[in-house]
Amino acid sequence: MQVIIRPTPEEATRVVARVVEKEIRAHPDTVLGLATGSTMERLYEMLVRKHQKEHLDFSLVRTFNLDEYVGLKPDDKHSYHAYMHEHFFRHINIDRRNTHLLDGMAKDLAAECQRYEDLIVHCGGIKLQLLGIGNDGHIGFNEPLSALQSRTRDKSLAPATLEQNARYFGQIAHMPHRALTMGVGTILGCKRLYLLATGRAKAAIIAKAVEGPITSMISASAIQLHPHCTVVVDREAGSALAAGEYYEWIFDHEPEWAEFRAA
Ligand code: PGA
Repeated sequence: MQVIIRPTPEEATRVVARVVEKEIRAHPDTVLGLATGSTMERLYEMLVRKHQKEHLDFSLVRTFNLDEYVGLKPDDKHSYHAYMHEHFFRHINIDRRNTHLLDGMAKDLAAECQRYEDLIVHCGGIKLQLLGIGNDGHIGFNEPLSALQSRTRDKSLAPATLEQNARYFGQIAHMPHRALTMGVGTILGCKRLYLLATGRAKAAIIAKAVEGPITSMISASAIQLHPHCTVVVDREAGSALAAGEYYEWIFDHEPEWAEFRAA
């Protein structure tokens, strides 16, 4: 695993935006794994800008989103279908047939999850998966005790997640208590992972996920098992990391990051 610490949320997000840009320019028909949440909004803004101002071409890109609430129609403004449309897809030249999200309205949820797993395989696997992290350490909606080998399935949302996301719905009573999510095992099967987190509220959980023991109580800790995983944080989200100085040194000196330092 690599940990990149940048001074501000803006700079941390810019690193990930440039990674995604580089992937698309090198492989125009790449398969991206997309995440939602407030942290990702700025990332999508940056990518939209790259499309509008720097001709970043999404016409052949294929995408899979991590998760979707059970029981919300795609046009419900709280659904992740709507989030993706609003923050990203409607602003870029992506072919909507190449954007894949789980159907939280499916009658047979297990069949829907299997369809999704099969489709990922059919597309050749996810090349670059974006991840946020929840206050309870979830990636996707893999709540505490999600098996490290879990596949796409439905999951009950944990109290910490209901509290974290109730802000979008007004109150917890108005939000779905279940979601479909790629499993931890599904995520570990992606070729490269980039986890982005910003702000002091994420400091403690980032330290646990990155430097703590691997445990199904903190799904994000499973990324330690992945051979090509990069965690990108701002100084605040990285403030509880024990080896922060070492991570900063790596970004400042490793040739791999030279082009990103210039930004
Ligand atoms: P956030 O959500 O970006 O809104 O903090 C991240 C997550 O829960 O995965």
